[in-house]
Amino acid sequence: MSEKDKKSIEEESKSCITRRSIIKGLIGTAGVGVFAGLTLPFGTIKNTSGKKKRQKIAKGDKLVFAVGDKANQIIKVDDLPLHKGTLAYPKGKEEHHNLILLFHSPVNNFQEPTKMDFITKNGFAAYSAICTHMGCTVEWYPHKQFSFDFPHLFCPCHQSVFDIFHGAKVLAGPAPRPLPQLPIMISDNIIVAAGDFNGPIGPQPGGK
Ligand code: FES
Repeated sequence: MSEKDKKSIEEESKSCITRRSIIKGLIGTAGVGVFAGLTLPFGTIKNTSGKKKRQKIAKGDKLVFAVGDKANQIIKVDDLPLHKGTLAYPKGKEEHHNLILLFHSPVNNFQEPTKMDFITKNGFAAYSAICTHMGCTVEWYPHKQFSFDFPHLFCPCHQSVFDIFHGAKVLAGPAPRPLPQLPIMISDNIIVAAGDFNGPIGPQPGGK
């Protein structure tokens, strides 16, 4: 990933944290019924891939950290203990529409419609990090937030919430469909893709 792309992702991350703080400030301790209907004028996060055709993720592509101290480094099993998540890219294909949310949870928590053959035996799972509503970057929330007392994925732009244990189905907010799931596996103690996402990434024509 180029320095420019890396900087862009880091800026996006900071921007999301700022938005999240604002949202928390606005919402306070209100329940989901309030925040689900709240629309804030934040717009979408910049798509860094332009009009270039996305490079599909292939079986064997290694996942690397997209942000943080280990940005660009290959993700090993030990890097993500239980209840941790990170933004990631397939190595060599670091572009906006390939941004991944990778997380590690107790494997018994996962249920259909999660594609169970897409997760690893020890509970690593991965989804597109591009919100299906307007394409913002979805965030990993490991703790209780509002009325959701389990880990979930949250889009700070219009507060869509996705259920990590049920195929990233939409629990709240305007997102029209779940996040596509990425099949992953472990090879030589590192996390690798086992294929491409199982659905279209981000918003689609007609809002579907
Ligand atoms: S972009 Fe609107 S909820 Fe995610």
